[in-house]
Amino acid sequence: MNYHVPVLLHESIEGLNIVPQGIYVDATFGGGGHSSLILKNISGGKLFGFDQDEDAKLNIPDNQNFTFVHHNFRYIKRFLRYYNVTQVDGILADLGVSSHHFDTPERGFSFRFNATLDMRMDTTNQLKAHDVVNTYDVDSLTYVLKEYGELPNAKKVAYTIVQEREKQTIHTTEDLKQLCKRFCNPKTESKFLSQVFQALRIEVNKEIEVLQEFLQAGLEVLKPGGRFVVITYHSLEDRLVKNFFKTGNIQGVVKKDFYGNVQSPFQIISKKIITPTHEELEQNNRSRSAKLRIAEKK
Ligand SMILES: C[S@@+](CC[C@H](N)C(=O)[O-])C[C@H]1O[C@@H](n2cnc3c(N)ncnc32)[C@H](O)[C@@H]1O
Repeated sequence: MNYHVPVLLHESIEGLNIVPQGIYVDATFGGGGHSSLILKNISGGKLFGFDQDEDAKLNIPDNQNFTFVHHNFRYIKRFLRYYNVTQVDGILADLGVSSHHFDTPERGFSFRFNATLDMRMDTTNQLKAHDVVNTYDVDSLTYVLKEYGELPNAKKVAYTIVQEREKQTIHTTEDLKQLCKRFCNPKTESKFLSQVFQALRIEVNKEIEVLQEFLQAGLEVLKPGGRFVVITYHSLEDRLVKNFFKTGNIQGVVKKDFYGNVQSPFQIISKKIITPTHEELEQNNRSRSAKLRIAEKK
């Protein structure tokens, strides 16, 4: 099975505005689709591919310009420094999980298979979806389901999870699926489960706080004129990236100069948000929620 089909491939690589001798980071190497196109565009340059998932090592290209960094991209600055790199010409991040995660039953990311509730991208981390479901209190579960899964009835679902786990531990994806069935009908089931599973995955991998750290660190390592290219799949992520590019800070606080001009370390390149073409959507349904934003450091 295909490891992952790259999303918005040409649009994102174009966004990097590659200089052949430049130093680039693919923060989410995965199946290496984006990396392989970056490598085609550099000669004499370098590419560092980060991925926290051990399985991504399967896809490391045999290319002397490429270095694989098996770490979380929140530590981008630290690991680039390790390779004596303090500034880069461009950073690409294609956030979230890969098709490989969804299609590997034992990783527990998908409700299509029955498996232990895991959902860790980095399998050396402690926290699993099993812990979130079986130990978080009602308020914390409500927060996760509402903020990360955008469930309108988050509190009710959280309360039911807490009640049910008192009778019996919720071990597997199937246990959770059965529990969720009371909140949806066959028509809405798939959407509802996707929202619940997405919420748990974001919590398990601390995706929002990691993204915040990464954006800040990315700004610091980019050269003036360097490009920041980010593909998001979730409105919370997208809002964060949008506001960060607009203001240069995680809080999205707009700062203005004496004349009222907005001060930002970035120039926004993608004035209109970039989404997959009809053609791409037809070929790859998993690209449907993708949004691409591009900014250049001033
Ligand atoms: C959407 S996939 C990227 C696919 C890739 N662009 C390709 O063309 O194959 C996201 C990848 O990023 C990795 N990832 C997600 N969050 C990460 C993080 N915080 N640090 C390092 N890798 C991360 C995942 O393990 C996954 O392999």
